[in-house]
Amino acid sequence: ANELPRLREVFGEHFHIGAAVNPRTLVTQKDLLTRHFNSLTAENEMKFVSVHPEEGRYTFEEADRLIDFAKENNMAVRGHTLVWHNQTPDWVFENRSGGAADRETLLSRMKSHIDEVVGRYKGRIYAWDVVNEAVTDSGDQLLRPSKWLEIAGEDFIAKAFEFAHAADPDALLFYNDYNESVPAKRDKIYSLVKSLTEREVPIHGVGLQAHWNLEHPTLDHIREAIERYASLGVKLHITELDVSVFAHEDRRTDLIAPTPEMLERQAERYGAFFKLFKEYSEHLTSVTFWGAADDYTWLDHFPVRGRKNWPFLFDAQHQPKAAFQTVLEAAQ
Ligand code: G3I
Repeated sequence: ANELPRLREVFGEHFHIGAAVNPRTLVTQKDLLTRHFNSLTAENEMKFVSVHPEEGRYTFEEADRLIDFAKENNMAVRGHTLVWHNQTPDWVFENRSGGAADRETLLSRMKSHIDEVVGRYKGRIYAWDVVNEAVTDSGDQLLRPSKWLEIAGEDFIAKAFEFAHAADPDALLFYNDYNESVPAKRDKIYSLVKSLTEREVPIHGVGLQAHWNLEHPTLDHIREAIERYASLGVKLHITELDVSVFAHEDRRTDLIAPTPEMLERQAERYGAFFKLFKEYSEHLTSVTFWGAADDYTWLDHFPVRGRKNWPFLFDAQHQPKAAFQTVLEAAQ
């Protein structure tokens, strides 16, 4: 196993190879992480609720641990995430009597949060997912209903980028979303980012989460999305890559492994994705997986609690899968 090529070296001249980690996997996957990856993202530990649970009280212990690990092992860090409708404590949106906060208060809390978090990791975190998942999946509306939108209005997005840029003028600032390759949503994300760049809001990239599976999205849809976003002249990062594979639709505590055919199909898909990423590496400068190996993935609990999933290049024992080989071949 020690003679395996390292992903971080194989793709070194094209893009970063990243993994999302949590306090547990930082320990249990340490060897795999340091061997193959040169970028880290906190799966949850830098989110609003994790670092700023009460007004003015910041809790950076776990985030700091990740930053130290990255530094010791020569890895870059992508920050995730500053402004999101999820994992944000209620106090952010409330006034002292429990009603809705007013716009000025909400924006000033957003600013304090961003100043503190981005400021703390200035020079350590080179790219931030500033706004996450603000675009709606369905209907004609552009933006998803949320407290941010409801209270602050649609320019909460521009404000978040402005605050982040002021807090660290050198950080690359991203808008990050899922279903990024589905044509209808892709077009909405495109018009949002286009309008931000036209208004000279400091935004430098689009994050394509890339929560994909054996069928969707098609390679054509992925290519079209990459081309569309790249045409805006911004950087592209693949931020949360996984390719969902599970043995049965609806069985819950299902430890039955997927069939060899499914894993072959997963390998083909991964190979094709990395070929595409390489082709666009002038624009696409980072590929982060939302985990590292099949012993742990958020997909074990979503959308069916307890349904085991096998979405990565490495198996539960951290050994390379067929998909690891096809990804290596894509680098040739
Ligand atoms: O921290 C509590 C813990 O105190 C409690 O005992 C436990 C019981 O369930 O829950 C813990 O919180 C969980 C948290 O992860 C930390 O483990 C939440 O229930 C759980 O919902 C949360 O899930 C995270 C999810 O975001 C929340 O939306 C996943 O780990 C994380 O992988 C996922 O990541 C998101 C990205 O941020 C944005 N894009 C989609 C992606 C996948 O959903």
